[in-house]
Amino acid sequence: MTDIGISMNDQEFQILSSLVYDKYGIHLVPEKRTMIAVRLQKTLRNLDLPTFTMYYKYLLADTNGDALTEFVNRITTNHTFFYRENEHFDFLVRRALPDILGKLQQERNHDVRVWSAGCSSGEEPYTLAMLMLEYFGSQYGMWDVGVLATDISEKVLKIARTGVYSNERIASLPATLRSKYFHQITEDDWEISKQVKGEVLFRRFNLMNEQFPFKKPFHVIFCRNVMIYFDQPTRDALIEKFYHALTPGGYLFVGHSETLGRSHTLFEYIMPAVYKRCT
Ligand SMILES: C[S@@+](CC[C@H](N)C(=O)[O-])C[C@H]1O[C@@H](n2cnc3c(N)ncnc32)[C@H](O)[C@@H]1O
Repeated sequence: MTDIGISMNDQEFQILSSLVYDKYGIHLVPEKRTMIAVRLQKTLRNLDLPTFTMYYKYLLADTNGDALTEFVNRITTNHTFFYRENEHFDFLVRRALPDILGKLQQERNHDVRVWSAGCSSGEEPYTLAMLMLEYFGSQYGMWDVGVLATDISEKVLKIARTGVYSNERIASLPATLRSKYFHQITEDDWEISKQVKGEVLFRRFNLMNEQFPFKKPFHVIFCRNVMIYFDQPTRDALIEKFYHALTPGGYLFVGHSETLGRSHTLFEYIMPAVYKRCT
């Protein structure tokens, strides 16, 4: 076995995984034990804590939430990239937006609300904002379009707000979007334009919160590659909350390896990983 420094025994893994499940809905399978221990080594060393039992006690004594934030920052997987699962974006532009806007026009409503739930370092919501700008073109100003982007991890939100990405991270973006909405700031780094940044509101938000605090419903929710970390009851409860957070006929996009399971009756299946809220 690899030397991971401070080791984590079964009981320690169990108490820490129960904590992360209760607070964030994240289900850590026992196979993840070594990986979690490795990811937390630096934190324990910085805190001068010799065991994971002491680290657990330290987390329980956390009064302002900083220790728990650092904990979740370390254990979450934030892998993402621009234009990920691009069929979703094509579907959004070709089918979902015309459908949504048709209804909004009938209601004389100009408010288009999009939520990237579990946005990681911003690639997904920025992709959405660029596509909306492209879609509306010169008509953009006539619509009140906004992308809300939330995540539990402050660490990734900080990167997202900065809006700077390496060559490698923007490689999957179509060249037209890159040249229009990015400028190169160093040999390796690109910054997203102020215009796109201004269209996305980043907030820390735990999807496990009992109540979603949004005053108005969304027309589109992207929650992709987030529910893979949750068990089925947690997913079902979340999908029900998404149902209530969407307008009737609104669209829910999940990751390609995710399905809705039991809650499927609340949504009409449209295509792999795309669902529409039943009325
Ligand atoms: C793999 S990333 C997905 C990013 C993007 N949606 C995509 O598909 O590329 C999963 C994100 O979900 C976030 N996450 C996990 N549990 C969460 C929770 N309970 N509330 C909010 N965000 C959570 C993680 O911090 C992480 O940034």
